Amino acid sequence: MDYENIYIEEEGSIATITIDRPKKLNALNKQTIHELHVAFKELEEDKTVKVILITGSGEKAFVAGADISEFSDFGIAKGGELAAKGQEILFDFVENLSKPVIAAVNGFALGGGLELAMACHFRVASYNAKMGLPEVTLGLIPGYGGTQRLPQLVGKGRAFEMITTAAMISAEQALDYGLVNYVVEQEEILPLCKKLAGKISNNSSVAISQAIKAVNAGYKSELNGYAVEIDAFGKCFGTNDFKEGTTAFLEKRKADFPGS
Ligand code: COA
Repeated sequence: MDYENIYIEEEGSIATITIDRPKKLNALNKQTIHELHVAFKELEEDKTVKVILITGSGEKAFVAGADISEFSDFGIAKGGELAAKGQEILFDFVENLSKPVIAAVNGFALGGGLELAMACHFRVASYNAKMGLPEVTLGLIPGYGGTQRLPQLVGKGRAFEMITTAAMISAEQALDYGLVNYVVEQEEILPLCKKLAGKISNNSSVAISQAIKAVNAGYKSELNGYAVEIDAFGKCFGTNDFKEGTTAFLEKRKADFPGS
């Protein structure tokens, strides 16, 4: 697919998606959400890619939210559809991807931008990043999973404060809250994400995909996370990665995982 609003760069086993609407602070319009869906799907199917990074172009924003100009005339039904479709094709899709996705939060991550970062498996921020869920200032609530994932990450009280005040928090505060794992200078954000992605790439991608499934299961009320973990653990024993990992350990060498 020819992308208009994003671009993808691949370096070895690491793919970086950049959302590229800097004049609109990388706001997520319908086209961008569709392009991101296609990109994540393609990268998931691409066997050479083991880790995906996502960031925003320019130095000001990761993503300043859903594109407000696209839904200002919506009614109840279209509003509900907007949230349902977005959750299905992007936010839940990213969270449940079989490959780890790291958000490089390089500036404003507001509304849908913070929700996108929270759907990723973990987050790294730059010092200039500002994060918040300002939807109530628009007469809305977060609709791309923010009311669920923010309390999971920062606790209910902090989430209620952020959602009801609509205040932005600094990168340092986000670090203190556990919303991001690291805060670095802007020019360091992608190198750090790539370093972390490199470490991940050395490990068994099959085991990592099972770990993602098991961790996520704990946050789904219809599933028993412990039971999913038992099943996923058992499945690992049937993989070539398990044979290679244990053999390499016993032979005192570094594992070279086939990824199957
Ligand atoms: N949707 C649509 N357009 C957006 C946008 C969004 N979520 N966020 C920013 N933009 C656009 C602005 O309209 C402006 O476009 P213009 O130059 O054509 O007028 C451009 O991006 C630059 O934004 P601007 O507001 O001029 O930058 P700023 O530095 O003064 O303020 C923000 C930055 C992030 C504080 C401000 O843009 C903002 O509050 N954005 C909306 C955040 C939000 O409510 N997100 C949740 C949406 S559900």
